[in-house]
Amino acid sequence: MHFTCPDKSCVKCQRLLDFRAENIKKFPSYYNGPVPSFGPLEAEILIVGLAPGLNGANQTGRPFTNDYAGDVLYPILKKHGLARGEYGKRKDDGFELTNVRITNSVRCVPPQNKVTGEEVKNCGAYLIDEIAAMTRLKVILTLGSVAHNAVLGVLGYRKSQFKFVHGAMHELGRHGLILANSYHTSRYNINTGVLTYEMFDAVVSSVKKILTK
Ligand code: URA
Repeated sequence: MHFTCPDKSCVKCQRLLDFRAENIKKFPSYYNGPVPSFGPLEAEILIVGLAPGLNGANQTGRPFTNDYAGDVLYPILKKHGLARGEYGKRKDDGFELTNVRITNSVRCVPPQNKVTGEEVKNCGAYLIDEIAAMTRLKVILTLGSVAHNAVLGVLGYRKSQFKFVHGAMHELGRHGLILANSYHTSRYNINTGVLTYEMFDAVVSSVKKILTK
């Protein structure tokens, strides 16, 4: 199925374009563009993050790559058989995802790691296409409440219907999907103890159990 993936010609968000122009000057070797999703379209799981980190996904051009959040995420995916190869923090490290695809609520790096509601809405056009193109999709795992609300928004649910709760597995009956919630694997959440490796590991375990049902 054909689907639209933003490329460097996307001009929906002026604030992000201005930030990109600054970054192209400061870091000319960086990817500096909307970071494409990673992993097979045939996957049963879609993980939705927040947005690329400046020196992480925005540098490498692959979600969560060279980001602290990826150092937490990728080894746990591998432990659960959802990835193979060595995660080498580079796009060309040969690391592969199996049965999981990863995208972001906003695909361009935002200043101070903070996205606006308008940017989430603009990028939602790509998120809904991505979801529609994943014909074997069973579970959407959202990392944080921004991603949770972004998914609800593009699927046409109200925020009040499904509250973001770490570990929750919401049944999106109309779509035949489970919307799983985890706190984001960010450095801040790990350092403050909001999320531990064990907590994230338990969420991935629960998601895998759903696939076998
Ligand atoms: N890197 C990403 O690609 N997404 C996030 O949400 C965090 C880091």
